[in-house]
Amino acid sequence: MGRSPLVGIALLVPIFSFLFLKFSPFNLHLPLYPFSASQKLFTKQQLALYNGTDAALPILLAILGSVFDVTKGKSHYGLGGGYNHFAGRDASRAFVSGNFSGDGLTESLRGLSSTEVKGVVDWRDFYVRTYIPVGKLVGLYYDSKGNPTKYLKGVEAKAARGAQLMEKQKVEEAKVPSCNSRWSQEDGSEVWCEIGYPRLVQRPIEIALTGKMSKRCACFNKAELDQPGLEVYEGCEYFSNLCRL
Ligand SMILES: *[C@@H]1O[C@H](CO)[C@@H](O)[C@H](O)[C@H]1NC(C)=O
Ligand SMILES: *[C@@H]1O[C@H](CO)[C@@H](O)[C@H](O)[C@H]1NC(C)=O
Repeated sequence: MGRSPLVGIALLVPIFSFLFLKFSPFNLHLPLYPFSASQKLFTKQQLALYNGTDAALPILLAILGSVFDVTKGKSHYGLGGGYNHFAGRDASRAFVSGNFSGDGLTESLRGLSSTEVKGVVDWRDFYVRTYIPVGKLVGLYYDSKGNPTKYLKGVEAKAARGAQLMEKQKVEEAKVPSCNSRWSQEDGSEVWCEIGYPRLVQRPIEIALTGKMSKRCACFNKAELDQPGLEVYEGCEYFSNLCRL
């Protein structure tokens, strides 16, 4: 006796719905593991499993407590990759400190300047643009309900101040153009001005920004040369428009 056509249809329905779910355009961006996007809360220990060691698991990293799936960047984040030390943890500080050894791989931003904190926030923006957000790491930046902590709000406020200061510095510095500079084997380092004369000046907002003093080379017109704070390069003529360093 042949199978009733109804049985055939009953068998086909689950097959079609499986194929539909698997290949439907609505599902293309769903990761292949049961993290409901931006819902999942991770503990440090859970996140540590996704460190790229087990090839069957996705690779995850956290920055400022936001967790991203970086599996598509496996060559960087996987075992042996140059960024593998970011996998399976929140090493927010290392994104700007470049210190990947031991305690350098920490989520704490304590003592960083506002521009460095801005730098970390920029990195988080990069991951938002480039990779898939899959959840939050419970700890310094998100509480056990997945809400942002005071610490995270403080970090974001500090980054906003850093951005403002950088903007102000840019506006200030645009008033006096920077010197051109080049380096060559024969001549070493040189700075020069198309118009005006090279002088070393303290960058105006640098101390507030980084806690450090730094100077830049700027081009001043003849009439501006007698103001305080302008330094002639050592060994350079007062009215030379090129100085060897
Ligand atoms: C890295 O992940 C593997 C497998 O997922 C796990 O067994 C191991 O403990 C993790 N390493 C660390 C340092 O957490
Ligand atoms: C990296 O951080 C650790 C811990 O804070 C510190 O002991 C070490 O000196 C740092 N290394 C560099 C190169 O800054």
